[in-house]
Amino acid sequence: MALVNAKEMLTKAKAGHYAVGQFNINNLEWTKAILLTAEELKSPVILGVSEGAGKYMCGYKTVVGMVTAMIEELGITVPVALHLDHGSYEGAKKCIEAGFSSIMFDGSHYPIEENIEKTKELVGICNELGLSIEAEVGSIGGEEDGVIGMGECADPEECKMIADLGVTMLAAGIGNIHGVYPENWPGLSFETLEKIQEKTGEMPLVLHGGTGIPDDMIKKAIALGVSKINVNTECQLVFAEATRKYIEAGKDKQGKGFDPRKLLAPGTEAIKAKVKEKMEIFGSVGKA
Ligand code: 13P
Repeated sequence: MALVNAKEMLTKAKAGHYAVGQFNINNLEWTKAILLTAEELKSPVILGVSEGAGKYMCGYKTVVGMVTAMIEELGITVPVALHLDHGSYEGAKKCIEAGFSSIMFDGSHYPIEENIEKTKELVGICNELGLSIEAEVGSIGGEEDGVIGMGECADPEECKMIADLGVTMLAAGIGNIHGVYPENWPGLSFETLEKIQEKTGEMPLVLHGGTGIPDDMIKKAIALGVSKINVNTECQLVFAEATRKYIEAGKDKQGKGFDPRKLLAPGTEAIKAKVKEKMEIFGSVGKA
């Protein structure tokens, strides 16, 4: 199956009260683990690529080549969207050119007028080419690949203004943070989410910073209109832990345990298990 944009899968998720996971990719192992798990669970999936990860993987064209070829070679039949995560205006244009099926333009650090203006232009381009587009209002706290946010909650009126531009999905800050949540994190602001939902209606809402949000908060967020949840750090943590255990157990020194195909296997399996756990919580299993 060719790459698809994220519109249909998110419209169905919103109507069906579940969420589609966006799992960020870093390399071949990540991509393979996520695609195979989505196929096994018959779940739609969104592969997220930050600008930093795009650079690391040798550019957006390399990413498009790897992902599309992998979908074909692995016989993936579930809907897969390839999505730019927290894109700049220039990054968004590059991904559109390279063949991504979906982009996020994160104009949240601009004054709202400028965010509207730039988002509007990109909505026009995406509509013409059949891509889905995510925009952001408010900001996601913490840091992801150099994108730093203060974590201020979104203004529901501004959310409506951006939603009315015809974006496919809307990321709104509701106290969520990229990376591991600090001990004193007050939790998601459901009050803000409810107000945003009231103003934006059918618009699929996006919850960034999926790592470490307790399951009951995830479920409540979905019930209040979240249809896409982004997870990045959690896959990195389980990959690192499984790899560390393999090396600490001296397995790389037994036989040909140093072979990268063996060395990276426990980490890859750990990502698969994490993605499965998340898809089950999000409710996207069997929805492909
Ligand atoms: P986490 O790294 O906290 O899971 O956040 C992922 C994310 O929101 C990607 O945009």
